[in-house]
Amino acid sequence: MAELAITARGLTKQYGAVTALDGIDLAVSSGTVYALLGPNGAGKTTTINILTTLTRPTTGEATVCGHDVLRQADQVRACIGVTFQDIVLDPDLTGREVLDIHGRLYRQPGALRRRRLAELVELVQLGDAIDRRVRTYSGGMKRRLELARGLMTEPRVLFLDEPTQGLDPQNRVGIWGYIRELNRVRGLTLLLTTHYMDEAEALASQVGIVDRGRLVAEGTPGELVATLGADVIRVRGQGEQAHFVAEVARLPFVVRVETDAADAMVLVYVDSGSRRLVEVVGAASGNGFLVEDVTLARPSLGDVFLHHTGRALRD
Ligand SMILES: Nc1ncnc2c1ncn2[C@@H]1O[C@H](COP(=O)(O)OP(=O)(O)OP(=O)(O)O)[C@@H](O)[C@H]1O
Ligand SMILES: [Mg+2]
Repeated sequence: MAELAITARGLTKQYGAVTALDGIDLAVSSGTVYALLGPNGAGKTTTINILTTLTRPTTGEATVCGHDVLRQADQVRACIGVTFQDIVLDPDLTGREVLDIHGRLYRQPGALRRRRLAELVELVQLGDAIDRRVRTYSGGMKRRLELARGLMTEPRVLFLDEPTQGLDPQNRVGIWGYIRELNRVRGLTLLLTTHYMDEAEALASQVGIVDRGRLVAEGTPGELVATLGADVIRVRGQGEQAHFVAEVARLPFVVRVETDAADAMVLVYVDSGSRRLVEVVGAASGNGFLVEDVTLARPSLGDVFLHHTGRALRD
């Protein structure tokens, strides 16, 4: 069995009347890219803050690199890197100064700092911009600099809280490339949070879906969607949704029917979407349900979220 880089048992976090975490268990093997996927306020940042020793859990325990986050916080900090959800960079410093100061904080000797800096500037492709003030950086460059800072101390486990929040598609794909390389080439274990399902799908070998402080589902992206059925036909319309749902559910090839009331959307899971499309749409006729739009797709992690919570995961 692979060594566990991160474990958590029964983590809860209470902020006054707010339950931020409601019993999170984790077991992340070394070398995994693990994505915590969930909507705003699900408890993703709280989980990262506990695992990186910044916040104490109300109850429960956790280890990172085999060290207890409460009793061995120094050892945990020595083996991890972290980038935060909100960019925290002094705009008056140059990129090089940001990285150098971080190395000094960790008492790295000068020669080591210079070597790491050169490697990381290469990795995140900041080039000559490394000597410009951070205030002149684009959002994507700031994220890349933060990633480099998180890597200065050669962590074994890297925590990335919403690593591509606010970035355009091109910059997001760029960050994904660095994350994959860190995992593949250097064998880093990564735990990242995201509310983008495509990000979890693109990067993660394991996904934990979080909602209201709980892990509602966990597995590889493939396993998670496979539990739903082969294909999903999404039908949007107006009128008597319940009649349509009842009619469709009677069809023998239908695996499951779900509704998202907010969107007037009906999700029909079937064995083969292309073969069943006509019959599914046909079930609407004479039912007082007017079909306005139909799409056919493989189920996504967003559908998995809806399945477990009854609500849509909005990007
Ligand atoms: N310091 C705090 N004091 C009070 N409540 C807090 C605090 N930090 C977090 N919370 C609450 O805990 C819950 C979980 O917050 P958390 O930041 O962990 O969610 P998240 O999944 O990271 O959300 P987002 O996607 O918006 O970043 C929310 O209801 C939030 O308002
Ligand atoms: Mg957050």
